[in-house]
Amino acid sequence: MDFFQFNKIAGAVLGTLLFVQVVILISDAVFHPHAAKQGYPLPAAQEGGAPAAKQAAAPEQSLDQLLAKADAKKGESDTAPCHLCHNFGKGEGVKIGPPLWGVVGRPKGSVPGFDYSPGMKSKGGNWTFADIFQFIKDPAAYVPGTKMTFTGEPDPVKRADIIAYLDTLSDNPVPLPKGK
Ligand code: HEC
Repeated sequence: MDFFQFNKIAGAVLGTLLFVQVVILISDAVFHPHAAKQGYPLPAAQEGGAPAAKQAAAPEQSLDQLLAKADAKKGESDTAPCHLCHNFGKGEGVKIGPPLWGVVGRPKGSVPGFDYSPGMKSKGGNWTFADIFQFIKDPAAYVPGTKMTFTGEPDPVKRADIIAYLDTLSDNPVPLPKGK
């Protein structure tokens, strides 16, 4: 075999390999998306759908259910931003906001020596779990013109934890709802 013959054969082999490569690339490009489209939508929809449905169900839990599962320890750390304005300890006084010892069950806007907003003064009633749950979600929506310039805690699970913790700040905590 002389040099030119070898070159021809090598060229033919390389040419064939190149052709095969191109065919593979094209068939990949043509058939792969099809395979993906046909094969995956169903399982993907099932896998993605189930947890999404579970998550969507979470906010629909009642406050009683949330409180039955609430974690006062987590609630204690979730009250970190509240300490800027509130005292939590027994006998502690007014800061930027009224002290929160014993707040669960006490009449709204009732700490002597704290100048509540007119909206809070006229709110009426005692601080039930449900009222605190609404108030700390969006203070300005619950008490228009409130002096509590806290944007609110949107997570219902965290709010339930916070309430469970606030409830421990008392000599006679109001019993939390029990799980069913
Ligand atoms: C920026 C300061 C600030 C922060 C942060 C803050 N508060 Fe307040 N809070 C206030 C003020 C001021 C009032 C009085 C509101 C009024 O008079 O309208 C208040 C009122 C309250 C009341 C009603 C108390 C009563 O005696 O009627 C509760 C309950 C309360 N805050 C809970 C919380 C919780 C829980 C947090 C944290 C999640 C928090 N606050 C964060 C300033 C704050």
